Amino acid sequence: LRQKYLGRIAEAGTEAALEELRLAAVGKKGEVSLAMRELGRMTPEERQVEGPRLNALKDEINSALAAKKAALEDAALDERLRAEWLDVTLPGRPRPQGTIHPVSQVTEEVTAILADMGFAVAEGPQIEDDWYNFDALNIPSHHPARTEMDTFYMAGKDGDNRPPHVLRTHTSPVQIRSMQQHGAPLRIICPGRVYRADYDQTHTPMFHQVEGLAIDRDISMANLKWVLEEFFSAFFGTKVKTRFRASHFPFTEPSAEVDIQCSWEGGTVRVGEGDGWLEVLGSGMVHPKVLQAGGIDPAVWQGFAFGMGIDRMAMLKYGIPDLRAFFDSDLRWLRHYGFSA
Ligand code: PHE
Repeated sequence: LRQKYLGRIAEAGTEAALEELRLAAVGKKGEVSLAMRELGRMTPEERQVEGPRLNALKDEINSALAAKKAALEDAALDERLRAEWLDVTLPGRPRPQGTIHPVSQVTEEVTAILADMGFAVAEGPQIEDDWYNFDALNIPSHHPARTEMDTFYMAGKDGDNRPPHVLRTHTSPVQIRSMQQHGAPLRIICPGRVYRADYDQTHTPMFHQVEGLAIDRDISMANLKWVLEEFFSAFFGTKVKTRFRASHFPFTEPSAEVDIQCSWEGGTVRVGEGDGWLEVLGSGMVHPKVLQAGGIDPAVWQGFAFGMGIDRMAMLKYGIPDLRAFFDSDLRWLRHYGFSA
């Protein structure tokens, strides 16, 4: 018995095998335990010899088990230390990091500057019904502006008698939605996507605008000019002069197109210097019919509105010549302009 178990314990390769041996030898039904139970049937003389012998065997087996168990645990630990060895002097593996897209960056910047000036951010749907996109903005059904805007119309299913929907061609419908929701006085901006069927170096079928709208009892064009000059100076980080040119939009009266001061040297545009001008936005005093459509009384309230191309601002700020590249998702281009790692 002694030889059998001490030999097997020495050979055991796993803790599970060791546990099996323990049960087989000194467990309740183990061989040593059974032999000890036989003691009762022996004569006192026999028992005096066999008793101590079996006890000694039991102790010996138990300590052999414990010693082997410790040895197996040591070996397992050694193996883990060997396998999980880590060279902390190795250089780290570079992990490519995404960055914020330039259009999103500029949207955030524009929003932050105007928010600091007291404008709240408003939102509206990109699929707009044509009343908000046109009629409420004083662009009736057969107005030429509807075709000039290269509108994408949403086809309704047969039997769909909802009013026609369009992909909004500008952020101006949010003027109406905000007036309806909040009434006057009101000071909001709305950055977002707009859509027109147009494609060339400076036009993509989807682009971004930010709308501005301020309504109060005594708002004037002078407030508009101040807001815009403050905005452009903050955005370009240098004092920027603006020039207002008389223009026409159905939803503003009077209307003005706004140019910013810049220089053109060898094809690069520098904002805030020189004696050139660059058109960047449309604006004006909100037309009384538009206030009415928004549920605001034009006899009491007046306001200014402006709409500016965000992508255009990004092109100017980063010196990017082709608008289409913004939406190509070409990593080489993004890296070239430092927009991606
Ligand atoms: N919605 C006009 C456009 O997209 C811009 C604009 C906004 C003009 C607000 C005047 C006032 O061209």
